Amino acid sequence: MSTVLVIGASRGIGFEFARQYADDGARVIATHRHPDDAGKLRALGAKTIELDVTDETGIAALAWHLDGEPVDLAILSAGVSIRPRTEGLVAPTASDFDFVMHTNVRAPMQLIPILAPSLVQAKGKLAVLSSRMGSTALMTSTGSWLYRASKTALNNVLKAASIELGAHGVVCMAFHPGWVRTDMGGPAADIDVRDSVAGMRRVIAAANASHNGKFLNYTGEQLSW
Ligand SMILES: NC(=O)c1ccc[n+]([C@@H]2O[C@H](COP(=O)([O-])OP(=O)(O)OC[C@H]3O[C@@H](n4cnc5c(N)ncnc54)[C@H](OP(=O)(O)O)[C@@H]3O)[C@@H](O)[C@H]2O)c1
Repeated sequence: MSTVLVIGASRGIGFEFARQYADDGARVIATHRHPDDAGKLRALGAKTIELDVTDETGIAALAWHLDGEPVDLAILSAGVSIRPRTEGLVAPTASDFDFVMHTNVRAPMQLIPILAPSLVQAKGKLAVLSSRMGSTALMTSTGSWLYRASKTALNNVLKAASIELGAHGVVCMAFHPGWVRTDMGGPAADIDVRDSVAGMRRVIAAANASHNGKFLNYTGEQLSW
C-alpha cells in the first residue's frame, strides 16, 4: 500500500487529493491546522496531523510524526492569496507580503528538507501546488502580482529540490491545477475540483524520471517557467 502525505488537506484541492487517494486504498496522512477539520479527514480513513505551515515548531514536529517512514507521494497544497485581487502595480503591505510569502514560499522551503528522507527512502514523488500565474514566460497581466511572485518563487524552490532529490530517485513536479472551483478559485472558475485532482493524479501516476523538475498543467501538458 502506498503512503500519500497531503499538506493542507482541510478543504479545496488538498482535501480532494486526500479523498481520492483514500478511496483508492492508499494510506493517507493528511495535515490540517484547525482541530475541527480532523473529523472529516479521519472519516476518509486518513491519519491526521495538526499543522500550521507557518509554525516552525509544527514543521519540526512533522519529522517526529513521520519518523523516517517512506512516503511515496507528498503533496504540498496549502497556499493563500490576497482578496480582493489587486490590479496593477499596487505596493503590497508588509503584512500581506509576509503572509503570502511565508505560506507559499517559506513553508515549502522548510517542509521539503523535513520530507526529503521519507521521499528518498521510497524513491517517491513530490508535487507542489503552484499556478500558471507563477509562470514568467506566460505572464500577460499584473493581476495579483504578489501571489504571482510567490508562485514564481515556489517554482524556483521546486526546481532546486528536483536537482538534489532527483539524484536520489525522487520525482519533483510543480503543478498548475487549472482554475478550480474552490474557496480560492471561486464559484466562476473553469473546472470542478474532482476533475482537477483526477487529472493531476493521472499525471503523477505516469510520472517518471523525465518529469523531474517539470512545471505541468493538470492535464499533463508541460508549462514554461
Ligand atoms: N483554486 C485554484 O483555481 C488554484 C489555481 C492555481 C493554484 N492553486 C493552488 O492550489 C493550492 C490549493 O488551493 P485551493 O484552491 O484548494 O485553496 P483553498 O480552497 O483556499 O484551500 C487552501 C488550503 O490551504 C490551507 N492553508 C492555508 N494556509 C495554511 C497554513 N498556514 N497552514 C496550513 N494550511 C494552510 C487551508 O487550510 P485552512 O482550511 O486551515 O485555512 C486550505 O486547506 C494552493 O496552493 C493554491 O495557490 C489553486
